[in-house]
Amino acid sequence: MIIREIRELQAAHYDLLLLADPDKLLVENYVKRSVCFEAVFDDTEAGILALLPTRPETLEIVNIAVAKPYQGQGISEELLQFALSYAQNGQYKTVEIGTGSTSFGQLYLYQKCGFRMTSIDRDFFLRHYEEEIVENKLILKDMVRLSIDV
Ligand code: ACO
Repeated sequence: MIIREIRELQAAHYDLLLLADPDKLLVENYVKRSVCFEAVFDDTEAGILALLPTRPETLEIVNIAVAKPYQGQGISEELLQFALSYAQNGQYKTVEIGTGSTSFGQLYLYQKCGFRMTSIDRDFFLRHYEEEIVENKLILKDMVRLSIDV
């Protein structure tokens, strides 16, 4: 598997981005300002990673997704490690990531990779998403923010 920067986002990339974030307008807005990478396996799109410089010395992973057939094989862990190395090489000090309070698997994954919880943005998903999101039988309301110093 190789991880490489994406010069121009294609439909297959959006399919992946929308797995992590169902709102296409929001996705289009932040990918314009992000550096995006693809994980390619046997010439097939296996995963995507979008990194957005937010504040000085801070990089946010705004989108990470792995195509269904490739899930459960450690690809997201590789993408997260790639993001941390990219941040170190780019002189960033902190990498942030936000996820839904109902995204239990993702919360496990990020903490397994060393991220720690920093804050909760209450009602984030009610304020920013027109469509209600239900996950793990709960209405998604709050965003959990996590970070790691690199
Ligand atoms: N539920 C339970 N456990 C999970 C989940 C999950 N949804 N995702 C990952 N894990 C666990 C795995 O079991 C594994 O644990 P282990 O090694 O201790 O057994 C560990 O996390 C690493 O898993 P990977 O195989 O590296 O994860 P994968 O490549 O399948 O990708 C991802 C995980 C990105 C969450 C994938 O399931 C996905 O694309 N989901 C849909 C999109 C999504 O939710 N993206 C994140 C949104 S937040 C954001 O983008 C900022």
